[in-house]
Amino acid sequence: MKLTDCHNFYDFRKLAKKKLPSPIFHYIDGAADDEITYRRNTSAFNDVDLVPNVLRGVENVDLSTTIFGKKLDLPFYCAPTALQRLFHYDGERAVGKAAQKFNTMFGVSALSTVSVEEIASLIDTPKMFQFYFHKDRGLNDAVMERVKAAKFDVMALTVDTITGGNRERDLRTGFTSPPKLTPSSLFSFASKPMWAINYLTKGKFELPHLQDHVSEGTNIATSIGNYFSTMLDQSMNWKDAEKLCSQWGGHFALKGVMSVEDAKRALDIGCTGIMVSNHGGRQLDGSRSPFDQLAAIVDAVGDKMDVICEGGIQRGTHILKALSVGAKACSGGRLYLYALAGAGQAGVERALSQYRAEIERDMKLMGCTKISDLNRNNLRFRKT
Ligand code: LAC
Repeated sequence: MKLTDCHNFYDFRKLAKKKLPSPIFHYIDGAADDEITYRRNTSAFNDVDLVPNVLRGVENVDLSTTIFGKKLDLPFYCAPTALQRLFHYDGERAVGKAAQKFNTMFGVSALSTVSVEEIASLIDTPKMFQFYFHKDRGLNDAVMERVKAAKFDVMALTVDTITGGNRERDLRTGFTSPPKLTPSSLFSFASKPMWAINYLTKGKFELPHLQDHVSEGTNIATSIGNYFSTMLDQSMNWKDAEKLCSQWGGHFALKGVMSVEDAKRALDIGCTGIMVSNHGGRQLDGSRSPFDQLAAIVDAVGDKMDVICEGGIQRGTHILKALSVGAKACSGGRLYLYALAGAGQAGVERALSQYRAEIERDMKLMGCTKISDLNRNNLRFRKT
């Protein structure tokens, strides 16, 4: 299987599985507990049907949307995800450059393997930083200042990782950051020699925003679940979020809001957006899907802040459905991570281009020429 054999999300997933040692593949692919929420995040989209209109003159379709004051050419973007250097040796450089080509937002995680300074020097399109509130206040302040100096456009505070999710696949495979060889993982690393050669020869694995402050994740191998549970501050509350929002002083979002009550509170503390998200089903299994929660949240705050629907997206029609409910944009991690693992920047570009083509084609089939044409009249919820 090669890049040109990949025509959709599922093909990229297969390619990634072929290329990655299994602990790394399952880190991306896995979720919490029984992975019910992970599956529901996608199946929720399939419980809703699109109702198209015809004869509307659809030769020119405009897919642009504006979030956080920035015009994007696509109504979806690359959500921040951790440790990309483990998936492909170009890591965040590859994803950032691909996002720039499509003029969409690139999210950089605090657990990224390339620094915000380097990303800022590489791409001039909109950038978001995903912040984790650590116990180490020196780390928090230093990260905030670096991201400000690198002139990122949006700061997103993660609020759904107050403790680590129970990722049983990671427990089984022994996945850690940095990866370590254990008797059980030895075979999987040895069976993907290209990955191993690239990992060992293409630059050191680093977590540039964290490693000057904490050893966990770089010098001390840790699972991501354990990192969240031990390094992040579980006392984080609305006052802390409000302080971070004013410390940042620009567009600020909460990533991982699921309740209407929290969406309203986010507005009260000065947020200009929220990601309706359950962290791709990787944290609280049994949590409702973002798409199922979207209408209530859009009705409460959608005219006052940017509501982004994140998670479970595997098709252009999923994005169209979320936009029809009233999301300003969608975002996702796996939607580009398998492609990154499969073929680096070229893979991510191919994935983004396929989503763009799907959305454009489906907009035409829906009788719509711009995102604002989409609305709830386009949808029928099936009785379950
Ligand atoms: C995860 C974090 C790092 O879900 O975003 O693994």
